[in-house]
Formats: sequence, structure tokens, C-alpha cells
Amino acid sequence: MRKHDVVIVGGGLAGLRAAIETSREVDTAIISKIHPLRSHTGAAQGGIAAALGNETPDSMEEHAFDTVKGADYLCDQDAMEILINEAPKNIYELEHMGVAFSRTPEGKIAQRAFGGHSKPRACYAADWTGHTLLHTLYEQSLRQKMTFYDEWFALSVALVNGTCAGVTALDMKTGRIEAFSAKSVIFTTGGYGRAFKITSNAAANTGDGLGMFLHAGLPLEDMEFVQFHPTGLYQHGILVTEGARGEGGYLLNDKGERFMENYAPEKMELAPRDVISRAMQTEVNEGRGIGGSDFLHIDLRHLGKEKILEKLPQIHTLALDFVGVDAITDPVPIQPTAHYSMGGLPTTIDGNVISDAKNTPVDGLFAAGECACVSVHGANRLGTNSLLDAVVYGKQAGIAARDHAKGTQFVNFPDEHLREVESDVASLLAADGKESAPKLLTNLQNAMTQLCGIYRVKEDLELCIERVKDLLERFQNIGAADKGRIFNTELIDTIQTRNILEFSEVMAVGALAREESRGAHYRTDFPKRDDKDWLKHTMAWMEDGKIRLDYKPVTITKWEPQERKY
Ligand code: FUM
Repeated sequence: MRKHDVVIVGGGLAGLRAAIETSREVDTAIISKIHPLRSHTGAAQGGIAAALGNETPDSMEEHAFDTVKGADYLCDQDAMEILINEAPKNIYELEHMGVAFSRTPEGKIAQRAFGGHSKPRACYAADWTGHTLLHTLYEQSLRQKMTFYDEWFALSVALVNGTCAGVTALDMKTGRIEAFSAKSVIFTTGGYGRAFKITSNAAANTGDGLGMFLHAGLPLEDMEFVQFHPTGLYQHGILVTEGARGEGGYLLNDKGERFMENYAPEKMELAPRDVISRAMQTEVNEGRGIGGSDFLHIDLRHLGKEKILEKLPQIHTLALDFVGVDAITDPVPIQPTAHYSMGGLPTTIDGNVISDAKNTPVDGLFAAGECACVSVHGANRLGTNSLLDAVVYGKQAGIAARDHAKGTQFVNFPDEHLREVESDVASLLAADGKESAPKLLTNLQNAMTQLCGIYRVKEDLELCIERVKDLLERFQNIGAADKGRIFNTELIDTIQTRNILEFSEVMAVGALAREESRGAHYRTDFPKRDDKDWLKHTMAWMEDGKIRLDYKPVTITKWEPQERKY
């Protein structure tokens, strides 16, 4: 048994930011299935938002309003206001930690335009913003005393009478499973775009935190809201930053038209992601994809070589390496890519996990970053607000977890919990059925993409749920070719696939129930937003293998819902 005051599951931006806060005062450990520097934060490109007003006058009020409108009024406005108001202070903290932001000619932090923001407020480091943040925070965390459990795969969260006692994790090097007793546990397990066939998400983004919560009887919030980023490299899904449009890039259809004129004439390519992704899907559906196919173009040529290489060097390299296109001389083929999940592990504004629709906190359990749902992004997140969320709420959760740990005793870690987890893993290793995790995952990704994607309709969603249930059934017949314990990546894949299957059912069930269109959730059979019946958050539990839904109200402070037009 290992023992730490605070255990953080996940070593990306939110986890590291939380650890910097906790480790100053209490014994802290980070469990991460990959080395922290391989976390998906490193793939975030275009920027982190704050109303600094370095390029044009800006205000928190405008940033807040853009965020609420972008969220299609589903965000909790108290949480969202904290995010926006804390943003400038957090950016300067990052700067002082050593983040090498790009600069204006007079030496201020440079800011670029991004979708749905009325002012240029994305602070950036060329198109390497996430990478730069991740490296800086990792260096800072090395300065402080904390224990890293790299390549340890977290398996479960242990609750004792509603209090968190710790987690279990598998040391991938040896296959040994251990209990981690902790006074506070923070989940920062990141996003889960791997439920879809085309995604900008890293292979590691499999929603393990969600799976652990479902198994612990805890709810997930607003899982039906999945963001498709308009510009993924064709067939790969790799991100082409919205910063490319922020710098002036155009979206073109087969006729060479800037088609956004027909969908969001004011904002054009800088409309929010949900609006642009739907526009792109419509262009393709109506035969205006390039050469009649299912992709469109982003055209950067008019920006010129110098600007492309200075502001978008990574995009230039990615396009060359993955689709063989030089963005300086040719338009780049793109398609919408599953990018971000607005829902997740429900928390209070302190990052404390809640167990029901009445916001009852779970003692000692916290969450932050993409895996969490505070909810600051509502039905659709604005670009650059996610790195901000990871930093601001990573810190908030760190402070709350640290204070909790300082004021409480360890809860005895239940032996029977560890034995149950060991027996689950032993049975997966012993399994000799005909099914394999990669096959089930491919089927799942196809079903989710075709039936629960950008446009949704009742019949498709029903079919999607049927398919996911069938895949869950087939999972019972899984077989393990590798029976060993040392670096058994097949075992890890199998557990990740079970996590993806389980939370995907929650996504589809939530999407079927929500009979309206709001933000990223678009029902062709219910094309209007319905505030009377649906201005509420979905809460979902897995009970005896079935999904149970409940709802909780949205917190409105000062922005009453209005029509959302761009
Ligand atoms: O397009 C991008 O650079 C992504 C940013 C974000 O999702 O916040």
C-alpha cells in the first residue's frame, strides 16, 4: 500500500497545475499512464484565452459574454465568471513560471483572433502553445517535491461511505496492482475523443476517469455534448489550429467559395466550432466537398511564407508530413474532427466532485481539466478556453484538495476493494474468448461517428445505443493473447476499450433523451433550442448495466438566454 496526502491521476496541464499548488504544503503524487510530457496538452496549438487587451481594448465582461453565448447558455455562469476573471492573473503566473509566449512588437504577450471571441484574446506561443505550457509546468513541478508514478495505469477509485479513500493502479512495468491511500484524490485524466473514428485526440485519450467513476457509482454530466473541431487533417483528424483561421486562413469548398458566407456572414471562418462543423458537413452532404468527396480546404497561401513559418510552423510541418501538402503553395485538405468533450466528471466551483443532481460533494474527491465538467463550457466550448480551464480549475482543485488534506485524516483503504480490482484484472488476463479490443473499438468508433456525430436524429441514436450495447455484450467474450504481466499493452487496451464502450453509451443515451438542438448537440428532428424544457444539465449513472438519467438546473447569474446568431 502506498500513501500520499494527495494523489493526482493524470499528468497533463490540469494535473501538473494542481500538483504545483498541493506539493508546496502536502505530500503529493502524480499517477500517469504515460510520461507527463507525452500528455495530450502538448497537442494544443493555438492559444490560451484572457482579456489582456494587448492587441485591441478588451474586457472580462466581453470575454464572459462570448463564452456564455458560445456555450449556447448551458454553462454555469458562476463557474464561468471565475474562469474569465481569473484568466489574466493566471496568464501572468504562467509567464513568470517561464512560458515563452509570442510577443507584440512592443514586447507584450501577443494575442490572436479565435472562433466565437469578439476580440483577439488568445495568448500563444506560435502554434506550440500547449507544448510550451506543458514543458514549463513539468519543469516547475520538478523543482518541487512530489512523487511521479509514470506508466502506472489507474484502475479504480475507492469510496468508503461516500468518502474517497484513494485509488488503485497497475504498475505497467511489472503488472503489479497497488492501492494508493490518499486524503484527497484529484482526477485530471483528460479528454476522450477516441470514441470517434476521426479525432484530434491522442491515443491515450480514452476516458479512463469516466470509466472509473461509472464503476464507483458516480455520475457523469452533459456527456452528449461533444465538440467537432472544423479543421482536422483529412483522414488523420490531427489538429490544424483555429489559429490558422485567426491569422486569416479561408475555408473553401469545391467551387472555391468561402462558404461560411452562407452560414455565419458576420463571423465567417471565426464563427464558433459547432456552427462551422455543421456548415462543413452540409457542404459535403450537398456535394460541394472537394471533387465531390468528404473533405474541404483551408487555404493559407495568401498569408505568405514568412507569416506561415513564423506563426504556424507546426501546421506547415504536419500538413507536409501527414497529407503531403505544402501550405505555402497549396490548400490543405481538412474535415471536422472530434476534439473536445464539454461533459465529464461533475464538480462544484472548487473542483469538488458531486454525487447527485443536488450537488452533494464527495468528501476528498476532486476533478479538473477536460475530464471534468464544472461546467464552464456548456454546450459548446470556445477555442482557447480549455487550456485556460485546465490552468484555472487545475489550480482551484489543487487548493481545495490541499486544504482538505491538511484538515483530515486518512480513511482506511478497503482491502476488499483492492481484491475486487485484482480479480477483475486476473479474469481479463485469463479470458480466452473470440473478441479483441481493437476490433470492438473500431466498430464502436464507426457507430459513434455515423450515428452520434455532428448531426443526430432519433432513429440513428437508437441504432447507436443498440450497437454499443451489442459491443458491450461482445466484450464479455473478450480473449487475451498476452497472459503476461510485464508491459502488457493488450491488457491496457482492453481496459481502455471497456471504458470507452461504457461512457459512449452514456453519450448516446443522453443525446437521445435531449430532444432539442443546443451548441454541439444538433438533432435534425428537433432543430431548435428549447429553453423551456432543456435548459438543464444531464446527469447519468450506470446502474446494473443500465444508464439512468437525471437533470439539474443551470446556474444563471446575469446573462439570460438570448437567440444565438453569428
Ligand atoms: O485550434 C486550436 O488551436 C485548438 C485550441 C483549443 O481547442 O482550445
